[in-house]
Amino acid sequence: MGDYRATFDHSISDPETFWRAAAEHISWRRAPEVILDDSNPPFYRWFPDAELNTSENALDRHVAAGHGDRVALIHDSPVTGSKSSFTYAELLDQVSRLAGALRTLGVDKGDRVIIYLPMVPEAVVAMLACARLGAVHSVVFGGFAAAELSARIDDAQPKVIVSASCGIEVNRVIEYKPLLDKAIELSAHKPEHCVILQRPQAEAPLNSPRDIAWSEAIADAEPVAPVTVAATDPLYILYTSGTTAKPKGVVRDNGGHAVALRWSMENIYDIGPGDVWWTASDVGWVVGHSYIVYAPLIVGATTVLYEGKPVGTPDAGAFWRVIAEHKVTALFTAPTAFRAIKKEDPKGDLLSSYDVSSLRTLFLAGERLDPDTWEWATERLGLPVIDHWWQTETGWPIAANLRGLDPMPIKPGSPTVPVPGWDVRVLDPSGSEAAPGAEGAICIRLPLPPGSLPTLWNDDERFVASYLSAFEGYYLTGDGGYVDEGGYLYVMGRTDDVINVAGHRLSTGTLEAVLSGHPAVAECAVMGVHDDLKGQVPRGLVVLKAGADVDPEQLRRELVQRVRDEVGAVASLRLIDVVAALPKTRSGKILRRTLREIADGKTPMVPSTIEDASVLDALRPTLQSPS
Ligand code: COA
Ligand code: AMP
Repeated sequence: MGDYRATFDHSISDPETFWRAAAEHISWRRAPEVILDDSNPPFYRWFPDAELNTSENALDRHVAAGHGDRVALIHDSPVTGSKSSFTYAELLDQVSRLAGALRTLGVDKGDRVIIYLPMVPEAVVAMLACARLGAVHSVVFGGFAAAELSARIDDAQPKVIVSASCGIEVNRVIEYKPLLDKAIELSAHKPEHCVILQRPQAEAPLNSPRDIAWSEAIADAEPVAPVTVAATDPLYILYTSGTTAKPKGVVRDNGGHAVALRWSMENIYDIGPGDVWWTASDVGWVVGHSYIVYAPLIVGATTVLYEGKPVGTPDAGAFWRVIAEHKVTALFTAPTAFRAIKKEDPKGDLLSSYDVSSLRTLFLAGERLDPDTWEWATERLGLPVIDHWWQTETGWPIAANLRGLDPMPIKPGSPTVPVPGWDVRVLDPSGSEAAPGAEGAICIRLPLPPGSLPTLWNDDERFVASYLSAFEGYYLTGDGGYVDEGGYLYVMGRTDDVINVAGHRLSTGTLEAVLSGHPAVAECAVMGVHDDLKGQVPRGLVVLKAGADVDPEQLRRELVQRVRDEVGAVASLRLIDVVAALPKTRSGKILRRTLREIADGKTPMVPSTIEDASVLDALRPTLQSPS
């Protein structure tokens, strides 16, 4: 195994030789000669003269190497009571036929395709089919409501949308088709076609000729060979929450992404061909893109796609069952999932019913891993429990305890050290490096490594304004934290208006826009407050318009429903109070951070710029009691 310090130092002092070596593990149509184009800072492009196809790297090359019979994908679906698996050869066949079907519908290199699907194998097939054609997919999480889907349709302007008749949440069937129809109705841009996977739990009426059933679309489809794309061509757009209501379209390129993910599987996760790898997340999130779909397939591992929950499908032993049945080598999920298991089965009694001896490592990310949850998982499993930190924008981990390099001690509460490639610096407000132990803005010195976002979709300006303008030469992660004397990084939370609910990233701005849309609401503030299960949940404070005559309980119900209808149930906004006024600075900015800290039981310093301190004092009793 390699030495962390030497590997890290090499990646920073000479990134070109570092990434040139990593790139050798990828099958190129045209191998890179130039590694980094840094001629137009702050925009950097990796492997600017190279060409490849990502689906060829995920599928064809394993089949060509004689591994067609190896299992590529296991679908385990307690919500439908079904299990199935696909070898590399079978997955390749499905992907090339769906690519043929999409091509018949007019999808070509560079065209966008929105994928709005639950956790079914067809989601993986659709992503890889787009990659095969050089088309740009944009997967939208199935838990988002019509308005959120519509915002993404208008921004990405897809030629085709691939969706399903329904998803299943534990034992509740969620019809997707009415949500899709509503989203298209709300959008200025109209897709030419929708390919709909009919699921037996709820078949959907189709609006011909726009809608085509998946089975019909692939019936006579000719398999398509992988199209050559530039390494710098976009593979996908993934929308994520920013500080305003408009989501950010994070762009991922083909070449840097393939190289970085391949490197991460070996060096961070220590996973290779034939290992069974399970990421219990959703294909709609970045964790799902990178580590359910692309990375495990690029390295030739078996990936598990789980359509279920950690609890309730049917109980808190579900994860142990999946590990035992499929002989999972490593599991990656969000801390929330473990908090949910711990809540239902505090002693971990259900674990003794299953043989989980195949499991080597548990990886957790997506939100802060609290030391209690780390300790519980470590004690129950008797295995390394690895916290690692990353973001939609970065596409792969920024900080981790790298399992493919020489072992490093784990310190609970810290995701350990910066991953090679990521020159992490904690900066104080003046832009100087903070002393060890002192909190500041966690930033990354440019250039970011391969696989990280090159820009935002059609919005270079917002890319620069959001991430690159706070400190020149640095990417601003939006997280605050510190580095200790031993070089371990501690990520303490967002410094902006992004909140993290059960590992789902949401913008308080989006929720505020929905609450403000209610006719009785004059203004509002939404903040993330601590929640034992979900890490954070949103809490809303609303001020009524003068003369509004509403029953506060009725208003609360209406506001909760509005958020469910316009953002989605995942927002989990249930805590809402009607208040007389909101505390502001003299320039009119609502003091959200101060409010949040009081709600979390802290005693914040009240900014000297507060306009009227009595407004805050009047709110304290409300904030300090549960809503
Ligand atoms: N489609 C439709 N609705 C969805 C959905 C989807 N794909 N995913 C979640 N929802 C709904 C849920 O049904 C729930 O609805 P309800 O309010 O009517 O009950 C709501 O959104 C909130 O869902 P969730 O956040 O999942 O909370 P929960 O209370 O149902 O479950 C956990 C709690 C901890 C079990 C669950 O959050 C979990 O499994 N978390 C793992 C986190 C994760 O994988 N994060 C991904 C990043 S790595
Ligand atoms: P997302 O883009 O949805 O992956 O969310 C990214 C955000 O989740 C980060 O900016 C952090 O705030 C938070 N996050 C992810 N992983 C961790 C972690 N291991 N520790 C602390 N916060 C995390």
